[in-house]
Formats: sequence, C-alpha cells, structure tokens
Amino acid sequence: MLDGLKQPEEFPLLLDQIALRAELADHYDLSPSIEIAEANAHLYARMKRTVAPPDWAVFAPYVAAINRLKAERSAVILAHNYMTPEIYHGIADVVGDSLQLAIEATRVEADVIVQCGVHFMAETSKILNPAKTVLIPDPEAGCSLAESITPEGIAEMRARFPGAPVVSYVNTTAEVKAASDICCTSSNAAHIVAAQEADTVIMTPDKYLAQNVAKQVPGKRIVWWDGACIVHERFTAQDLRDFRSWNPETRIIAHPECPPEVVAEADFSGSTSGIIDYVERERPAKAMLVTECSMAANISDALPEIDFVGPCNMCPYMKKITLEKVLWSLHTMQGAVEVDPEIATKARVAVQRMIDLSRKLAA
Ligand code: 13P
Ligand code: SF4
Repeated sequence: MLDGLKQPEEFPLLLDQIALRAELADHYDLSPSIEIAEANAHLYARMKRTVAPPDWAVFAPYVAAINRLKAERSAVILAHNYMTPEIYHGIADVVGDSLQLAIEATRVEADVIVQCGVHFMAETSKILNPAKTVLIPDPEAGCSLAESITPEGIAEMRARFPGAPVVSYVNTTAEVKAASDICCTSSNAAHIVAAQEADTVIMTPDKYLAQNVAKQVPGKRIVWWDGACIVHERFTAQDLRDFRSWNPETRIIAHPECPPEVVAEADFSGSTSGIIDYVERERPAKAMLVTECSMAANISDALPEIDFVGPCNMCPYMKKITLEKVLWSLHTMQGAVEVDPEIATKARVAVQRMIDLSRKLAA
C-alpha cells in the first residue's frame, strides 16, 4: 500500500476536500462499500443512532484504511470528545477531555501520535513527548481561546497583579503555557486555583471559566483575561430558561466555558468527560447538553434510554478534522507539530505541574 509514497516535500498541503479525495483515491480504494461497512459492523454498532447506513458505507473504507495505516506506522490516535462519531468510534484509540488526553499523551508508547482535536492539544502532546512525531490532520484547527492571548498578555497581567500566580487554561499556545506558572483544564480548574498559596490568582484566557471558578473558590480573588470560547459564549440564560419551561423534565448540563448566568440555570456543570460521567450516572430520561454538538452524538448509542434534546453549537475548529484529513496526514506524515525546545521545556513545567497536582488531588 505504501509503494510509490511521495516524499512530504513533494506533497502540497492538501486541505481542499475535493483535491484531497482525488489524491487519496490514487492510493486507496475509498469508494462507498457495503462489504467494508459490514466487515466493520462492530464499529458501526457504536454510532447507529447518529450515523445513517449510507453514510457508514461512505465512511467505512476510510475507517478501514486509517486503521490499517495506523498499525503500519506505529501510530496512536488521541481524539477529543468533540470529534464526530466516525472519528470518535471508528478510528480513535483513546478518547477523552483535555485533561485525559494530556495524561494519555504521557503514556503513549507508539512512535506517532495523531491528534484528532485542535492545535493546542497537539502541541500539548508534543510538549509532553518531544521525541515523538505528533501529527495534526489540519493545522488550521485553532481555538478562539488560544488565539485570544499571547505571552505579552501574560506579562501585562503579571504587571497589573504583581506576585499573583498565572493559571492558564490548556487552551493556549506553547508560548503562553511557557509564560504561565501552571495550567488547568475545565475538570481541575477550581482545584488548581484553590491549591495556589497566593490570595489573588490570575486566570487566562477564559473569562467565563474564571468567573465560574470564582464562584467555586470564594476564598480567592480571581482576576481574568478577556477571552471566550465562541461555541459556549453563544448560549444564553434566557435560552435555558425558555427550554426548561417548555421541557420541564429535561436535565440541563452546561460546560463551564459558558457564561456564569448560563451555568447558574443548569442542573450540572463539568468538563466534557464530567458531562459524560454525569449522564452515565444519573440516566435522566431527557438531557440537554449545553456544549458542542458531537458530545450527545458520541454517547447516544451507549445510552439508548436517554433522549438527547435541545440546541447545541458546533465548533468550527474541531470540525476541521475529518476522516480524509486523518488518512492524508498518516499517508504523507505531513502536519507534524514542532515546538521550539526552549519554549517546550518551560511549557512542560506548567503542564506537568497541572498533571502532578491533579493526580495528587485525585489520590
Ligand atoms: P474539556 O474537554 O477539557 O472539557 O474542554 C472542552 C473544550 O472546549 C476543548 O476545546
Ligand atoms: Fe476552542 Fe471552544 Fe472550540 Fe473548544 S469548543 S476548541 S474552547 S473554540
């Protein structure tokens, strides 16, 4: 299958979907196939509620080719909970929230990591595994939070609040992590902030996560950067109140990147994996997940008794990752993430402090 493989430098950055499909078709038979769909019925069983059979016949040849190539390349796929079902259930080796993916990245034995998620996640894997090849299937898969702050922004906050530690969300670039004291994710932010000795703590870049944490850790003065997630900031408290009045029996679960008045209207708030754990534990008859749309899609087959209802918002960055691009990146080995070694060393301190503190708090 790898005969005649072009060298990366000969390969243009093929991110256009039609060009990508045409290029891949020269190397793999990717036409829709009922036979390949049936041969991979065990994978389809996990996404039947959300992926129609004709779509599976289209996806299955890509899934089969990626899974074969993964073994040939000694590659492992780490996928975020916001990936589409065909990625999440079809090709991922590990799925999880940002903290779980960062922890799993420290345990990878394979030579290659393919990060099905956004760029800061691939950078975090590279920071934790400098000797491994970390591929991002689309380097344009950014994040509005990561784009909202630079190291100069961190310096500005330090100048305004001298002596206050900087807790940066993992949704930041390697340079911002390197300029921070410690990282956090939505699943450990309150604990990380509470564990800081100082009375004043700087949180960057998500103002809403910071405001939600401030409610959970009233003993600290939390100051924040003015960043927001374009997916979660669009939900409003009025949306949730209206939805509840029309669907009083629905359990409403919101991600902490939502504004605090939205979180206040919800029955529960947690990281993406916290949300999954909550619905698995509580098994409400109806649930509205106030977060990215793939979340409900990915868990609905495992929880058939739950009716997932209500609006959700799509993350345009996460949705840049497709089966075609994953196959393309494994085929060409293009899209390797590089982090300047000096920056990586400093950023690793902030990420590792978070992982160590999370493990200590969980013990
Ligand atoms: P978590 O999976 O850590 O909850 O993060 C959500 C998110 O928006 C990642 O980009
Ligand atoms: Fe960034 Fe929000 Fe998309 Fe997550 S959901 S990658 S925080 S824009």
